[in-house]
Amino acid sequence: MASILMQFALLSLLHLVASQNSTNSTTDVLTLVNQLIGTDNGGNVFAGATRPYGMAKAVADVDGQNTAGFSTDGSNVTGFSHMHDSGTGGNPSLGNFPLFPQVCPGDDIDNCKFQIADRKVPYVASSVKATPGYFSLELSTGISAEMTVTEHAALYHFTFPSSSGSNGTSPMILLDLTDLSASRQNASISIDSNGRMKGNGTFIPSFGSGSFVSHFCSDFRGASIKDNGIWVNARAGSEPKEIFVTRGINLFYLESGGWIQFDRPANGVVSARVGVSFVSADQACSNAEHEIPGDDWDFASIKKSAEDAWRDKLNVVSIDAGGASQDLQTGFYSAIYRTMMSPQNYTGENPLWQSSEPYYDSFYCIWDAFRSQLPFLTIVDPITLTSMVRSLLNTYKHVGWLPDCRMSLCKGFTQGGSNADVVLTDAYVKNLTSPDGPIDWELAYEAVLNDAENEPLDWSVEGRGGLQSWKRLNYIPVLDYDYLGFGTNSRSISRTLEYSYDDYCLATLAKGLGKNDDHTKYLSRATNWQNLWKDDTTSSINGKDTGFTGFFQPKYLNGTWGYQDPILCSPLDSFCSLTTNPQETFEDSIWEYQFYVPHAIPGLIDLFGGPSSFLSRLDFLHTSGLTDIGNEPSFLTVFLPHYAGRPALSSELVHKYIPSYFNSTTTGLPGNDDTGAMASFSAFCMMGLFPNPGQNIYFISAPFFASISVTSPITGKTATMRTSNFDSGYENIYVQNATLDGVPYTKNWIDHSFFTEGKTLVLTVAGQEGAWGQKAEDAPPGMSGDRGGSGRML
Ligand SMILES: *[C@@H]1O[C@H](CO)[C@@H](O)[C@H](O)[C@H]1NC(C)=O
Ligand SMILES: *[C@@H]1O[C@H](CO)[C@@H](O)[C@H](O)[C@H]1NC(C)=O
Ligand SMILES: *[C@@H]1O[C@H](CO)[C@@H](O)[C@H](O)[C@H]1NC(C)=O
Ligand SMILES: *[C@@H]1O[C@H](CO)[C@@H](O)[C@H](O)[C@H]1NC(C)=O
Ligand SMILES: *[C@@H]1O[C@H](CO)[C@@H](O)[C@H](O)[C@H]1NC(C)=O
Ligand SMILES: *[C@@H]1O[C@H](CO)[C@@H](O)[C@H](O)[C@H]1NC(C)=O
Ligand SMILES: *[C@@H]1O[C@H](CO)[C@@H](O)[C@H](O)[C@H]1NC(C)=O
Ligand SMILES: *[C@@H]1O[C@H](CO)[C@@H](O)[C@H](O)[C@H]1NC(C)=O
Ligand SMILES: *[C@@H]1O[C@H](CO)[C@@H](O)[C@H](O)[C@H]1NC(C)=O
Ligand SMILES: *[C@@H]1O[C@H](CO)[C@@H](O)[C@H](O)[C@H]1NC(C)=O
Ligand SMILES: *[C@@H]1O[C@H](CO)[C@@H](O)[C@H](O)[C@H]1NC(C)=O
Repeated sequence: MASILMQFALLSLLHLVASQNSTNSTTDVLTLVNQLIGTDNGGNVFAGATRPYGMAKAVADVDGQNTAGFSTDGSNVTGFSHMHDSGTGGNPSLGNFPLFPQVCPGDDIDNCKFQIADRKVPYVASSVKATPGYFSLELSTGISAEMTVTEHAALYHFTFPSSSGSNGTSPMILLDLTDLSASRQNASISIDSNGRMKGNGTFIPSFGSGSFVSHFCSDFRGASIKDNGIWVNARAGSEPKEIFVTRGINLFYLESGGWIQFDRPANGVVSARVGVSFVSADQACSNAEHEIPGDDWDFASIKKSAEDAWRDKLNVVSIDAGGASQDLQTGFYSAIYRTMMSPQNYTGENPLWQSSEPYYDSFYCIWDAFRSQLPFLTIVDPITLTSMVRSLLNTYKHVGWLPDCRMSLCKGFTQGGSNADVVLTDAYVKNLTSPDGPIDWELAYEAVLNDAENEPLDWSVEGRGGLQSWKRLNYIPVLDYDYLGFGTNSRSISRTLEYSYDDYCLATLAKGLGKNDDHTKYLSRATNWQNLWKDDTTSSINGKDTGFTGFFQPKYLNGTWGYQDPILCSPLDSFCSLTTNPQETFEDSIWEYQFYVPHAIPGLIDLFGGPSSFLSRLDFLHTSGLTDIGNEPSFLTVFLPHYAGRPALSSELVHKYIPSYFNSTTTGLPGNDDTGAMASFSAFCMMGLFPNPGQNIYFISAPFFASISVTSPITGKTATMRTSNFDSGYENIYVQNATLDGVPYTKNWIDHSFFTEGKTLVLTVAGQEGAWGQKAEDAPPGMSGDRGGSGRML
């Protein structure tokens, strides 16, 4: 313990030094965060006020692209709410219990607008202001709203203009018992003489099963209360002071809530404090009272506290931009910022089980987050990531399964394999631990083994399906005969590939924990991907043969091959989700998935006929329109040239996609940010490193800044990537040679000790490909095609 405390003291000291030598000691890192990136064009980024991983996330909700509440798409504001998800792709998420301010004509409550379709108004586009811990805008009615947050409460200032445009003057604020998806089942609200509104509602998760109860507690200050009450449909009254509403019938969704009218205060400002909780309305009240205490609710200090929390997180990374544009610097820090939206810290807010372990929610979904977001946090915020891993294990302990997706205390839908297996293994190979407490690796092993061996009844939300076939046939058959458990009986190819990698991760854990028999068993199962390889399948685009022969194909239970066109589900064809057009590959084509064997790329290279055939397939994938960099399965393919001894080609791919597909505009993301998946992809790329999660490997490519330093919050040591001959015009993107702590370094990858031990990697770059990193022994390790005697050899 003592040595840990000393490390933290040392860390503070190092921070001072690091910040003196960062980009610029006078630049506040928060000025490099643009929260509006990806708020249009389907990025679904949360633009509002939040603390890192905070449960309270306040923003204006619109009726356009409102998955994360707000969008810069110019649609209408329907309210201001206090909890959101960021970047997700399901239904609009959370947005429970919005407030909406207005002035009613003649100050007559009968003239107020209650229902969303009536009350919504445009916002003034130029008025939108979003900075870490803060969001504000002005409505076309002249009423402006600014907001900041603590962990479990939001604080709003609504400013009412002196002339409201109508003949009324009294501010009126309603609370709506709804959420962004209008998923409410039933709800309660009561309002007392002090204007406190509290209550609850039962809602449906935005991409999951079951339901959850959410609670609120709102108080108002700054103006004297004229009247208050409840409203139902388009009508309101001063009596009664409480109501219980049901959903309504069929399509007639009942709209209802509370309202409060004030005498106009001299400065026009009415403050609202909203506490939230998943436990009870009383806890929502105590959260608010504890976090935003007193009667004067100090907006500036709440905002500053949120800003300080963000500075602490972001100052772990410092750069010497070397002339790189402000846009790229903003893109980089904004991306790092977005990796810390979710998973959200709901510790103390989980009514489902009692535990002293941390509880994180909004793993939305692990299929997206395991590839680069959670590995990114392993570097910049290992203490929080350790808590997240412990939370996953505690969820396993109480629910019986690791989640593949989880939101709003509910089980989310599994997209591919059991990818929490990869998250746990990645943490293991990087020796993740934290001063707050270690990870129970034996429990982790038990949880991953459970995924591999036991089939749940409902494998659409946990575990894996088709395990009888997986064990007997060594592949997932198309149209499997599976009476043990139920899920969407599709994706047999992508599930075979993912389960193979999940089993590889289990083998890795087994080896580390000294379970040698299991190591051998699961290493063998990790070769199952080979069983769906059909070496005579060809692929044509618009009737023209691509010239490549041999692709993964679906296979029936009886061993007979099925057929799926290798370009089906690619951007050249149609999208394939769980519910729309499900196929044998999920959300991507056989062309993309043919590279998804993260543990066995050397074997894949052999299968494709050697490095040059492998590279021509990769090149075709990235030049033919077959890949979608806006969806996560493409991420790893950008760095696969490293395995074929051509790290220069990975560098070229990185620069092909950044900044053309990832830039600092509101439309600057190529797809859903997925709680920071896209963000972490771009941040890693700019850093010149990329992980192969589940393995202790980071691929090295040319960074976007002259120097990037990351100080480990655990060891206090600073790792630095420095580029010699750095060129901010990005002609010099080819590494010629490298030194690690001053010693020549020829491998084209490094391991996690780079970060924990604070090493310095100096890359010398030039304008054409050099010989660095090309030797076979300098490529990252991986399984060959040899399956050790158990079955067909490739
Ligand atoms: C600051 O960074 C430069 C290179 O970017 C390096 O030469 C110098 O030694 C650093 N100074 C300190 C105090 O770390
Ligand atoms: C430091 O930042 C200030 C203000 O942004 C800028 O004017 C100055 O050029 C920067 N200096 C360096 C060395 O980048
Ligand atoms: C916003 O609402 C106004 C009416 O207040 C309507 O005319 C307009 O079409 C709406 N805009 C959008 C983008 O929905
Ligand atoms: C205010 O305006 C509303 C709607 O235009 C009208 O119904 C009401 O009579 C007016 N009230 C007064 C006090 O002028
Ligand atoms: C509210 O709705 C939920 C979900 O449909 C249901 O379980 C619960 O019993 C309802 N509560 C009341 C009081 O009707
Ligand atoms: C919701 O609030 C009502 C009214 O206070 C209360 O009776 C009910 O128990 C609450 N429901 C839950 C799930 O807390
Ligand atoms: C998570 O929330 C709990 C309860 O509010 C708090 O004690 C803990 O410090 C939080 N963890 C982080 C990493 O902020
Ligand atoms: C893992 O971390 C622990 C605690 O920091 C340390 O004692 C141990 O040496 C590390 N092991 C490896 C293999 O790095
Ligand atoms: C295997 O099963 C498929 C699908 O049911 C069927 O079309 C095919 O004819 C079968 N093959 C043999 C050899 O029975
Ligand atoms: C910015 O990124 C978006 C999304 O990928 C893309 O459509 C747009 O063309 C990019 N803009 C520039 C100037 O490259
Ligand atoms: C590294 O590459 C640069 C540029 O090609 C060259 O000038 C330098 O001599 C090389 N250093 C080593 C140690 O190979």
